[in-house]
Amino acid sequence: MRIRTPAAALAAAGLLVASLSACGQEAKGGSRYKPDEGKGSTIGLAMPTKASERWIADGDNMAEQFKKAGYKTDLQYGDNKVENQIAQLENMITKGRSLLVVAAIDGSALTEVLQRAHDAGIPVISYDRLILGTDNVDYYASFDNERVGRLQAQYIVKKLQLGKPEKGGDKHNIELFAGSPNDNNTKYFWNGAMKVLQPYFKSGQLTVRSKQTRMNQATTLDWDGGTAQKRMDDLISKNYGSDRVDAVLSPYDGISIGVISALKSAGYGSRSRPLPVITGQDAELASVKSIIRGEQTQTVFKDTRKLAQQTVAMGDAVLNDKKVKVNNTTDYDNGKKTVPAYLLDPVSVDKSNTRLLVDEGYFKAGQLT
Ligand code: GAL
Repeated sequence: MRIRTPAAALAAAGLLVASLSACGQEAKGGSRYKPDEGKGSTIGLAMPTKASERWIADGDNMAEQFKKAGYKTDLQYGDNKVENQIAQLENMITKGRSLLVVAAIDGSALTEVLQRAHDAGIPVISYDRLILGTDNVDYYASFDNERVGRLQAQYIVKKLQLGKPEKGGDKHNIELFAGSPNDNNTKYFWNGAMKVLQPYFKSGQLTVRSKQTRMNQATTLDWDGGTAQKRMDDLISKNYGSDRVDAVLSPYDGISIGVISALKSAGYGSRSRPLPVITGQDAELASVKSIIRGEQTQTVFKDTRKLAQQTVAMGDAVLNDKKVKVNNTTDYDNGKKTVPAYLLDPVSVDKSNTRLLVDEGYFKAGQLT
């Protein structure tokens, strides 16, 4: 068995002893959990859901790029159910996958199954979402998640022309949405946005009429658009009689779509009552089209092809005992260890620069019309 990381080395030693004592023969080939190795081996890709375009693209991109790099892949989607994802990972371990790439449904729920991966000497890359509470995660590949939140909030500040908070100025109403409470990214997006918005709450330029200003009051389980729509219906009917909502902080395109539906049902979207400024994330096709139509206002583009590329490079290096390229070794503490990370840059997109998505080859021009 190839020893890939210090963690895997210890695991491998343990496995060898266990295997020798169990069967009285050489470990090689004898263990149910022995992963295959290097090029030609099969990588386990555990993605959260097919309900959102981005994860379909992430899975497909990684499968394609790992294939180009000389690997096979076992791509599984957990349908946003933690127990499905755990069963899928268990199966991957049993089948001796050489590496696990995991976009966790619940970042805190994988401790036991990743212990089994560790015991089997299988390295783990945490994909997009940080896996929490375990030593058994080797690397993290993602975008600068706090920056995503800052980009959304800065966009609201610019669009409402709030200027410098210390100068005061016009007053506006805003409502706040956060992502799924079990996704570790949620707090980074929220904290990034709050750093930018807080001074305007203080200066009185921004008011949250619902008073739901804490993250745990604003979360949206499973990032579900329908759930966001219901909450927005409620926020409007309870807090906005003749007054208007001027901005909605939404952390993800699927949530933005739900919010827009609620606003439209409440009569927004006409000349006399235009839709508020509404942010988003992921540059999903439906939302980019909505931006072009003038409904959603902004999204944050995270090129999933580049994230896949980075992850494939990481995985290939891990499996071939090469140096793994990271650019952040201080910020991603998962409660047990600081996970070495590679972070990519997100980009803010609104009506003025949707062209970028075509220029970058993310969409074809015809898809956006
Ligand atoms: C997050 C991810 C976002 C968005 C969201 C909902 O973890 O970082 O880009 O995709 O999940 O799927």
